[in-house]
Amino acid sequence: MRKFLTTTAMSLALMAGAAQAAENVEVLHWWTSGGEAAALDVLKKDLESKGITWTDMPVAGGGGTEAMTVLRARVTAGNAPTAVQMLGFDILDWAKEGALGNLDDVAAKEGWDKVIPTALQQFSKYDGHWIAAPVNVHSTNWMWINKAALDKAGGKEPANWDELVALLDNFKEQGITPVAHGGQPWQDATIFDAVVLSLGNDFYKKAFIDLDAETLGGPQMKEAFDRMTKLRSYVDDNFSGRDWNLASAMVIEDKAGLQFMGDWAKGEFLKAGKKPGTDFVCMRFPGTQGSVTFNSDQFAMFKVADDKVPAQLAMASAIESPTFQSAFNVVKGSAPARTDVPDTDFDDCGKKAIKDLADANTSGTLYGSMAHGHANPAAVKNAIYDVVTRQFNGELSSEEAVTELVAAVEGAK
Ligand code: GAL
Repeated sequence: MRKFLTTTAMSLALMAGAAQAAENVEVLHWWTSGGEAAALDVLKKDLESKGITWTDMPVAGGGGTEAMTVLRARVTAGNAPTAVQMLGFDILDWAKEGALGNLDDVAAKEGWDKVIPTALQQFSKYDGHWIAAPVNVHSTNWMWINKAALDKAGGKEPANWDELVALLDNFKEQGITPVAHGGQPWQDATIFDAVVLSLGNDFYKKAFIDLDAETLGGPQMKEAFDRMTKLRSYVDDNFSGRDWNLASAMVIEDKAGLQFMGDWAKGEFLKAGKKPGTDFVCMRFPGTQGSVTFNSDQFAMFKVADDKVPAQLAMASAIESPTFQSAFNVVKGSAPARTDVPDTDFDDCGKKAIKDLADANTSGTLYGSMAHGHANPAAVKNAIYDVVTRQFNGELSSEEAVTELVAAVEGAK
């Protein structure tokens, strides 16, 4: 009897162990700021409520540059995580290497094809197969303005470049830092996304999507760099290396007038208890109304041991649930990755993000973000980063930057 009990207890324990392995996901991501962590918590809790435990692999560093380096090391060591937060072309690169799993069954069962916009599907599918689960749609051509400072400046939202410059001059007179910025290549590139877009939809498309050498090397590109030089004159002395969320904090704490940043910045304002329209104002970078440079965070699903696949599929399914999409994106600052999620629970900035996205999609003015891996593969993106950052830091004149940009892109293609 005793022996029987021991054996039964042992096999129960073994079964429990197996079940636990099957119900665990190891997730690599770069969501470490206050707002990002709050959004990630919505996902963790959702999975926990479904009996799936979470092993966290955070790799700090906005935009995910560091996370992608750590991922490469993990996969090379034969130890791929279950799911990895990833952007655009990086997903396709991993798919090309044959490293990703297959979500076709769950996608078919849940009808993802009909509700996930094709702009996202381009990165969630490879060779006709689903390889990643999109969790949101962010966009980069936003600015986040301190409302009190804007009111002091007369309260008018700047409608074009000249009005933006006038507002920044006014912030300077108010004795605050006009532009809250963190000098990191991906942040410089995020501003460059918006500046290039503000010089025309065609210009953005030809430069960053088509990588047209004439456009990359033309007079408009010189003007884009000139505008970067102008914006550089409005940052504080300590901007170099600052994390993006600390730049958001400067606007939140009334130390700076505005930040140019994707709508993940809104997550920081919300986390700090700030309200859109009351404490801060969200608006598109002047001159880019009607256009959207988007990036979508997706969870790329890696090939894992068979016993881990059920939890992986359950995670993918949970991410695409409409209720989760609303709950998560309300906190994250992004728009849902599905077109059928009601905007009821979103604040005014969120409602605008959802509407702008739908409108841009219809009018053909929705473009992949260069700065966030949705216009080009990493090699080209990094080549552009390098030139943009050197020019922003005064190492290159606008003329030199234009010449270098053409050469760098050509070399990286
Ligand atoms: C973006 C990502 C966002 C946000 C941001 C800063 O690339 O899409 O979700 O995390 O980086 O870390």
